[in-house]
Amino acid sequence: MSSSEDQINQRVPQHVAIIMDGNGRWAKAQGLSRLEGHKQGAKRLRDVIRWARDAGVKQVSLYAFSTENWKRPKMEIAGLMTLMATMLPLEIPKMIEEDARLLVLGDITKLPWLARQALKKAVNATKDNTSVDVILCLNYGGQQEIVEAVKRFCASFQTEDEKNKALAELTPEVLQTYLGREDILPVDLLIRTGGEKRISNFHLWDAAYAELYFTDTNWPAYSEEDLKAALADYASRERRFGKTSEQVQGISHE
Ligand code: IPE
Ligand code: IPE
Ligand code: MG
Repeated sequence: MSSSEDQINQRVPQHVAIIMDGNGRWAKAQGLSRLEGHKQGAKRLRDVIRWARDAGVKQVSLYAFSTENWKRPKMEIAGLMTLMATMLPLEIPKMIEEDARLLVLGDITKLPWLARQALKKAVNATKDNTSVDVILCLNYGGQQEIVEAVKRFCASFQTEDEKNKALAELTPEVLQTYLGREDILPVDLLIRTGGEKRISNFHLWDAAYAELYFTDTNWPAYSEEDLKAALADYASRERRFGKTSEQVQGISHE
């Protein structure tokens, strides 16, 4: 590979995380029910995974249901769970064809049995695929996830002394091993559709240095052009990770 190609490839985010927002507002504008908005939104997933994979993205995280979404009307929650349980099995052949592996983040023990079964099946059927990872975030909360990691860390010691010593020496790298991040890359690009400019408890740990991109497009209307625009914007940014611009560009060696 030539060095210019190498540079171009470095400008493709490895992990893109998407807050798929705006289903309800999209539906309202069309005179449809919120659930119809979620249905049309779910249909976007297949295309977006393909577009991202074709662009060279290795992981796509999709925020499908937050820990806070349990506060929604019971009917809407039930509709979302049923939608997942019925749509996921239909996606398996497509995911196999795309060589996509499904991973799940979030506490899925709280989901209805049918949804859990559908997830298990899809994860199992795609576990050996290697072209792109699709990380479905369900009953996911960034804060809760960090709390659970701290609990696991504290529970892993036999004595108070051991625990206190480990606590005094605790680093982000060590805590990360308790988050279950073996397969998850840091988020490079975080996209939110639907016009809101907030994180809503998504990927708090992994997005520590993510580039943020907000678009007014509602999720059911998200197009390949929208994704291309986000990727192009990402490619134009200088990621400094705390350094100066001169250091990043190799002008200063101090
Ligand atoms: C995102 O769309 C989907 C979920 C949160 C499940 P919304 O349902 O939040 O859509 P808006 O924000 O009401 O338009
Ligand atoms: C975030 O969207 C969660 C998902 C997309 C699954 P919300 O629509 O629930 O976020 P808030 O409540 O407006 O912040
Ligand atoms: Mg919303």
